[in-house]
Amino acid sequence: MAADPLFNPLTVGDLQVRNRVWMAPLTRCRSLLPGHVPWELNAAYYRERATAGLILSEATEIAQEGRGYPGVPGIFTAEQIAGWKKVTSAVHESGGTIVCQLWHVGRASHQAFQPDGKDPVAPSAIAAAGDVHLPDGSKAPYPVPRALEADELPGIVATYRTAAENAKAAGFDGVELHAANGYLIDEFLRNGANERTDEYGGSVENRCRFPLMVLDALIEVWGKGRVGIRVSPLGSFNDMADSNPLPLYTHLFGELQARGIAFLEIVGAIHGDDIDDDLLQKINAAGREAFSGTLALNGGYEGDDARTALREGQCDAITFGTTFLANPDLPKRLKEGADLNESNPATWYSRGPEGYVDYPSMDGGPVPRSDDPS
Ligand SMILES: Cc1cc2nc3c(=O)[nH]c(=O)nc-3n(C[C@H](O)[C@H](O)[C@H](O)COP(=O)(O)O)c2cc1C
Repeated sequence: MAADPLFNPLTVGDLQVRNRVWMAPLTRCRSLLPGHVPWELNAAYYRERATAGLILSEATEIAQEGRGYPGVPGIFTAEQIAGWKKVTSAVHESGGTIVCQLWHVGRASHQAFQPDGKDPVAPSAIAAAGDVHLPDGSKAPYPVPRALEADELPGIVATYRTAAENAKAAGFDGVELHAANGYLIDEFLRNGANERTDEYGGSVENRCRFPLMVLDALIEVWGKGRVGIRVSPLGSFNDMADSNPLPLYTHLFGELQARGIAFLEIVGAIHGDDIDDDLLQKINAAGREAFSGTLALNGGYEGDDARTALREGQCDAITFGTTFLANPDLPKRLKEGADLNESNPATWYSRGPEGYVDYPSMDGGPVPRSDDPS
């Protein structure tokens, strides 16, 4: 066992990972257009970060209907699968492990992104407050989405299943269901966005029903040992809220345990969210108690706070977002106590290499190709 808890290897379902410094999913809007295809630039970015114990890919669209941001990659065309192969090969060549975060944005979209200019879909016809960034760079208020009919849901489950199969064909090591941050799955879970009166709304059991149908499809494709889920119980991003999150997530965590999936990632505060820290601790503890798979926590961790969380047994791994974005060699820096680069929000969602593959390693130059701090 390593003296530094960040560097204890870990078994995550069927995966063996070399450390507990994981890379959080980070949308970077740099796929090739018009096909929304991952390419060599993306492979270079992920290769630099392959020393993460586990890389959670940027959110990846399961279908055009699931798109709500410019320049983000998909996993539903042959070209996209071939593009992702370049990424997964680069990560594997450098000894890393990468799972694909599967994404349908639900109401966080606009007709401009949808096939034939249709309305975005959601559990209920409730628009998110705020603006959507359109493909031409302008902004518009989020439109009122169309509430999905119950008999449409199996079709969306099938789309997730196909995307999971595509992720396998693309060489990923597993999948993470994006059930956080106000996108489709999260919109079903939390009653700020779900006012349905059928078997997919109301009680916590009902609101978990569709998310679990999707999760079961992913398990059918990958096996439980290569499937994880990301939730953000208290996050307000994309105008989200729930009237009573603790029982909702306690129920969900029990269902995850019943399925025996590989990992659960709980997101705390993102983008400066002001959240109820006591309630977050209770939800994290409920996850720990109910779920015996790998628990990863996210939100604002930098190093010593991550070590404390691991030492206290609050979780098994930490996912680092902005810190990994700006520090391609983050595990090595944490191991050696080096200073960290600051991330530059101006280039988070821009195009091209600037602010993407030009963050220096701790030695000042590019990250060496097979840098293994484990
Ligand atoms: C540029 C950027 C892109 C993000 N993209 C995603 C994403 O694709 N999927 C996701 O679940 N969360 C996404 N997030 C949220 C991060 O994964 C993470 O939860 C957040 O940054 C808080 O962690 P941190 O404090 O370590 O940065 C994004 C955050 C940032 C800053």
